[in-house]
Amino acid sequence: MINDDKLYVWHPYAAAIDKNPVYSVKKAKGVYIHLATGEKLVDGMSSWWCVINGYNHPKLNKAIKDQISKFSHVMFGGFTHKPAVDLARKLNAITPRSIQKVFFSDSGSVAIEVGMKFAIQYWYSKNLEKKKKFLTVKSGYHGDTFATMSVSDPINGMHSVFKKTLLNQIYVSKPEDSRDFNLKKSKSLKQIEQKLKEKHSSIAAVIIEPIFQGAGGMRVYHPDYLKKLKKLCEKYNVLLILDEIATGFGRTGKLFGFEHSNIVPDILCLGKSITGGYMSLAATMVSKEIAKSISNKDPGIFMHGPTYMANPLACSVALANINLLLSYDWEKKIKNIESAVFNSFKEISKNKSVKDFRVLGAIGVLEMKNKVNVKSIQKKCVEHGIWLRPYSNLIYIMPPYVISKKDLTFLLNKLKKVIELEY
Ligand SMILES: Cc1ncc(COP(=O)(O)O)c(C=O)c1O
Repeated sequence: MINDDKLYVWHPYAAAIDKNPVYSVKKAKGVYIHLATGEKLVDGMSSWWCVINGYNHPKLNKAIKDQISKFSHVMFGGFTHKPAVDLARKLNAITPRSIQKVFFSDSGSVAIEVGMKFAIQYWYSKNLEKKKKFLTVKSGYHGDTFATMSVSDPINGMHSVFKKTLLNQIYVSKPEDSRDFNLKKSKSLKQIEQKLKEKHSSIAAVIIEPIFQGAGGMRVYHPDYLKKLKKLCEKYNVLLILDEIATGFGRTGKLFGFEHSNIVPDILCLGKSITGGYMSLAATMVSKEIAKSISNKDPGIFMHGPTYMANPLACSVALANINLLLSYDWEKKIKNIESAVFNSFKEISKNKSVKDFRVLGAIGVLEMKNKVNVKSIQKKCVEHGIWLRPYSNLIYIMPPYVISKKDLTFLLNKLKKVIELEY
């Protein structure tokens, strides 16, 4: 099978025939991933932020099975169904009152594209068509499609090949690390204010990941930064789009990242862990004001409509996943993960190869002095029964919230061992 994989299959961020191995998965249950070669790995990645409640969960399996026996899909143009309406109602119940309308799509990148289109069409509806650019911060990451690449970090390499074909947006310095933040002295906020002052008549929205910048650098910034940013958006009549695709549904210790700052976005993008890693689904939520204004001005419709929009299987499992999350003390579980990871990373960071470490909620990041050898580290991880996927100079973990104390201790001890062997 691995040979056919090499022949026919292209993997993410990889060459056609990649130098890094891929490991064949036979089954997964709880926090364990079982390989075809017999190894059992404790998952430290939640499959890229998604699997918050563990693999193969009976309640989530049941939600899909129940729905599949009714219907797996119907077009959403002209039809509606209970899974979509129940999920939209649930999302309304757990987010601020002013954001109400839910637009479903199939991936995080598309949810951001949709959010950007909403922002542009909103200003169009206000006869302010010139407001069509986006202001964003460096070190951000919002996806791999063209518009999302245009608001992701312009030089961190991932998208450098496409640089010349991208929409030209407005960038400012990345938010200061939360430990170095000073509200009055923040260079990033000063640049934002300056750009907004100069260019607000051409800016539709500011787009940012709240509190934690993910794939663009795995950085934590201060809640007061976001509070001030919201005020600046209001002052200069610019919308605020929050990308909660990675941070949403508890990962940072609050249900949503923006809750650390007690602010409300105009447009909220959700994805990844919404279905607990079962199916690809994303949601873009907009304020009542945006919904009303777009609908009241010719053409009176929002021009987007994915074929698999509001897929009933995905909506059913998303609702079951959110209900499951809210049924246990997830805040306590995440606090426990946070303190265990902090203690362990403090110890690991004594290794001279570690430059810095940061921990927020169920996210732990080791920033190494140099670029890591992904192939070598991953091989050692597999040999020691854990699953991680470092990149650049970052080794990070974000385990499923349901990980037991014993498995978390195992994950952290083995990671320490791998780092000792590697450096
Ligand atoms: C913050 C953020 N936004 C958007 C995306 C894109 O989501 P997707 O990979 O589902 O398109 C990601 C994916 O890693 C992300 O972390």
